[in-house]
Amino acid sequence: MDDQLPPATFADKPTLRGEKVLLRPVRLAEDLPMLRVMLRDPEVLRYTSDSYTPVAPDWDEAMERRITDWYGTRNAQPDRLDLIVVDRATGRGVGEIVLNEWDEPNRACNLRIALGPDGRDRGLGTEAVRLLTDHAIRRLGLNRVSLNVYAFNPRGQRAYEKAGFKVEGIRRQVLRHGDQWIDDIDMAVLAEEWA
Ligand SMILES: CC(C)(COP(=O)(O)OP(=O)(O)OC[C@H]1O[C@@H](n2cnc3c(N)ncnc32)[C@H](O)[C@@H]1OP(=O)(O)O)[C@@H](O)C(=O)NCCC(=O)NCCS
Repeated sequence: MDDQLPPATFADKPTLRGEKVLLRPVRLAEDLPMLRVMLRDPEVLRYTSDSYTPVAPDWDEAMERRITDWYGTRNAQPDRLDLIVVDRATGRGVGEIVLNEWDEPNRACNLRIALGPDGRDRGLGTEAVRLLTDHAIRRLGLNRVSLNVYAFNPRGQRAYEKAGFKVEGIRRQVLRHGDQWIDDIDMAVLAEEWA
């Protein structure tokens, strides 16, 4: 842990600055237009859904209310950290990154990320994962950060490997995607590996 600073908690919602990205708390009015696009994006649906979603669901009033409630309450969560990924080149939000599933006694949590179409393939995802993992290990004092990536998402796997995560195992045929079975890859990084 960073000795210079008092330990952070999940209730703290920091702004983390990298070269290409800045991670900051949700600003509902500013972020909603980007989130509406991201949450309907075919690649985000394909790689982040627990079940096959061939087409984006209709964006009706109920959905708008659910999304507004969800993102409107992220900054008040004491046991998870949801941050918006901002492209520093434009100052615009391009996605979200989250630490969740906090396992307090074992000092572990899960990480997830989704970038919309404007944010991908420019190194932003790798840097965002590095920044938030660094926060998890050095500021929150966690020992282990883990995540899952579907086997048909080599870009995700590569970004996580570049950020320092290692493959721990494969859960076979977890997702039914159309007429295919897709494996799920378990990855994690430990504090002792995080130099
Ligand atoms: C996955 C995600 C976070 C990665 O972030 P990103 O900014 O797009 O990725 P980066 O540019 O940082 O790095 C991607 C790496 O994968 C590589 N890559 C891209 N497509 C690839 C493919 N089909 N096969 C293998 N490697 C690939 C890139 O070349 C790059 O590696 P390199 O720097 O060694 O060349 C982002 O694309 C995203 O959110 N996608 C949609 C939702 C998603 O997949 N979320 C994660 C669910 S686990």
